[in-house]
Amino acid sequence: MKITVIGSGYVGLVTGTCLAEYGNDVLCLDVDANKIRILQEGGVPIFEPGLEEMIKRNVAAGRLRFTTDIKESVEHGTIQFIAVGTPPDEDGSADLKYVVAAARSIGRHMNGYKVIVDKSTVPVGTGDKVRAAIADELQQRSEKTSFAIVSNPEFLKEGAAIEDFMRPDRIVIGTDDDTAKDLMSSLYAPFVRNHDRILFMDVRSAEMTKYAANAMLATRISFMNELANLSEVMGADIELVRKGIGSDPRIGYHFLYPGVGYGGSCFPKDVQALQRTAEEHGISLKVLDAVEKANHAQKSVLVDKIVKRFGDNLKGKHFALWGLAFKPNTDDMRDAPSRVIIEYLLNQGATVAAHDPVAIHEAQRVMPDWKGLSYGDSPNAVLPDADALIIVTEWKAFRSPDFTDMNKQLKNPLIFDGRNLFDPKRMQKEGFEYYPIGRQQVSL
Ligand code: NAD
Ligand code: UDX
Repeated sequence: MKITVIGSGYVGLVTGTCLAEYGNDVLCLDVDANKIRILQEGGVPIFEPGLEEMIKRNVAAGRLRFTTDIKESVEHGTIQFIAVGTPPDEDGSADLKYVVAAARSIGRHMNGYKVIVDKSTVPVGTGDKVRAAIADELQQRSEKTSFAIVSNPEFLKEGAAIEDFMRPDRIVIGTDDDTAKDLMSSLYAPFVRNHDRILFMDVRSAEMTKYAANAMLATRISFMNELANLSEVMGADIELVRKGIGSDPRIGYHFLYPGVGYGGSCFPKDVQALQRTAEEHGISLKVLDAVEKANHAQKSVLVDKIVKRFGDNLKGKHFALWGLAFKPNTDDMRDAPSRVIIEYLLNQGATVAAHDPVAIHEAQRVMPDWKGLSYGDSPNAVLPDADALIIVTEWKAFRSPDFTDMNKQLKNPLIFDGRNLFDPKRMQKEGFEYYPIGRQQVSL
């Protein structure tokens, strides 16, 4: 099938590449000429495991191309995916200007029946706005071509995006158009072993499903973080509690890890956008209000522990920090908890030496010229002379350090662990003062 993907960011690039992998003829468009140049020259503008090889393979096979030419891209695909950003505007609502611009460019250049598939995360009712924008453009040039609107929200996780796309739990397709339904079923057939995994519904329910999923997951994490904070004070161990509740199939083990608060490009903005949608319609989402508040506080949980240990004047203190990206296996720094922690430490007069396996370049871009912040190219490189090590992201490479060597390099054998990477008993034996999340601290 001929497919166009408008927007070649995380979602657009993964969608286009995975569709090409199953033999479709895919053209990816972006307005960012630099991004397209990198892709045309064989590079990949983001870090996502497995993506580079898959792009190379499909480009070589002639099934995947990149362009900034809007007319060419609209003419190419019978199915036009919109995968542009929907960032928060000043009040936290989803800003639809990129989605509407994409819809207008489709309407301006459409030359026959098209299925317009919205993959961006958009508020309920956006399908109608996309339809109206396209219809308006068609009317302006007295073009009578028909088209269908589909909502097909994306549930991939960064760092596991290829796996999530190639083997989805479910594919949500919202449309009231039978031709579009058939085309979408054929397109996704190779991705699902049985068609029960494709859930057909109306456009509005599909749009709502995406926000409902992210809000539910964000709630689960925030509630777990609050239980962790309480466990710590009450002398309980959240890791045991996690296993104790996860074994109930109604709760399950996934997504129960306490930490330094959720970040990334989706949960924070989608939680806020859903709150604003509800407010606009006179509904107050009280649970979600609390989730956001709890997450805001959780981003400071390590800072609170540091202040308790060192006091709030951190002048002259130096910290090693492991993990900048908002989660492992990505270089994405959007809403990363590391940014909040680093900013606080620097403001209090401390210096920070940070390491991340892939996000240093992106960190330098989003935290340019932050005085007192330096980077090291390995976990060990940032340890010397640090008053403590702070762990923010649970990269695999951080899980089995040489504790004896670490103890020698750090000025103090002291770790603030925002991801519970180590067993407190082991840390005691290794001679570390250790501050995990929701577990009992180890004092020397
Ligand atoms: P992104 O910022 O990485 O990429 C968006 C791309 O769209 C950019 O490269 C931008 O230049 C391009 N663009 C903007 N306007 C354009 C236009 N008119 N024509 C062509 N290209 C245009 O964003 P992303 O992370 O891929 O997210 C895209 C959407 O998918 C958002 O709505 C997001 O909420 C949703 N989503 C993201 C994820 C994720 O993990 N990143 C997962 C699921 C859903
Ligand atoms: C999320 C959704 O999971 C995905 O379905 C959607 O398409 C996009 O948003 P992503 O943001 O890539 O994906 O990462 P995810 O693995 O969901 O983690 C989000 C945040 O929650 C991270 O900051 C992570 O550290 C945190 N988290 C996750 C926890 O604190 N504990 C957990 O148990 C899981």
